Amino acid sequence: MFNLEAYISFWAKKINSFLDDYLSFDETNKGLVESMRYSIFAGGKRLRPVIIYSSYGIFDSNFEKVTPFAAAVEMLHTYSLIHDDLPSMDNDNFRRGKPTNHKIYGEAVAILAGDALLTKAFELMLDRKINMDVEPEVMLDVAYNLAIASGEKGMISGQYLDVLGNMNEIKSTSTIEIIHNKKTAKLIAYSAEIGAILGYATDMDRENLKKFGEKIGYAFQIVDDILDIEAFDEILGKDTGKDKKLNKITYPAIYGLENSKKKATLLVEDAIDIISFYGDAATPLIEIAKYIITRSK
Ligand code: IPE
Ligand code: IPE
Ligand code: MG
Ligand code: MG
Ligand code: MG
Repeated sequence: MFNLEAYISFWAKKINSFLDDYLSFDETNKGLVESMRYSIFAGGKRLRPVIIYSSYGIFDSNFEKVTPFAAAVEMLHTYSLIHDDLPSMDNDNFRRGKPTNHKIYGEAVAILAGDALLTKAFELMLDRKINMDVEPEVMLDVAYNLAIASGEKGMISGQYLDVLGNMNEIKSTSTIEIIHNKKTAKLIAYSAEIGAILGYATDMDRENLKKFGEKIGYAFQIVDDILDIEAFDEILGKDTGKDKKLNKITYPAIYGLENSKKKATLLVEDAIDIISFYGDAATPLIEIAKYIITRSK
């Protein structure tokens, strides 16, 4: 029987130990790297790395090769959280069960720690010495697509719409889908897709995995919005009730809690349909998809 908890914890350990070695410092950058490490090791779920390993596992088994790419995506994701929490953005005090980066290090250092994690993600992906087993054209493909998923066509554009939008001005019902897709689903879809790229999958497989990721990514943000209403702060590791306070455009604010739960379930079912023909090899991804709607943090 597949044990998702053990599976996630196995890969999380790999990522944590890699990042522990990789994020080293000297006397000249000590304070900066300490603040980067603070948020990296504050206790995230490592879901995006686990999706990368799981997707890759459908096509190939040289998992060591995948670790730097999975760690890079986690660094980029962590940067997005540090910046998302800033006073000028969501103004949050808690993250991953600890005070937010700017609460400990101040706003200027938090911004820089985020900047450094973002750039370091690309440094790591494009490091020829670390990624010796990865062909240059594969590295380029993977790094280029990370820029697309996380930049002004993707996550940042979603964050822009999220931060500037509010429930009083919502223009059409597709607004929420666009925001969720860009700010959250793109990076999750990218994670599923690069597992396929690194595993030398066909273009069709790559497209399938990306579509799977888009569906679970959308569901993931709907559930994030539900948890902001229903979860306990101590379990979630962040302050709840924030979306309503900030008048955020969320799925439950538009459609209500029950419809949001139904929508998330439908998206996960659709996602599972897309990958079920991979058979047993898709079990980890299928279990991750189910976990996205049952999680409590
Ligand atoms: C939180 O992501 C930000 C969203 C995209 C909703 P996670 O819920 O994956 O955060 P960590 O990495 O576990 O802290
Ligand atoms: C954050 O969405 C998405 C990104 C960080 C890109 P939220 O603002 O809802 O995430 P949380 O709830 O603070 O984790
Ligand atoms: Mg936000
Ligand atoms: Mg936030
Ligand atoms: Mg949220």
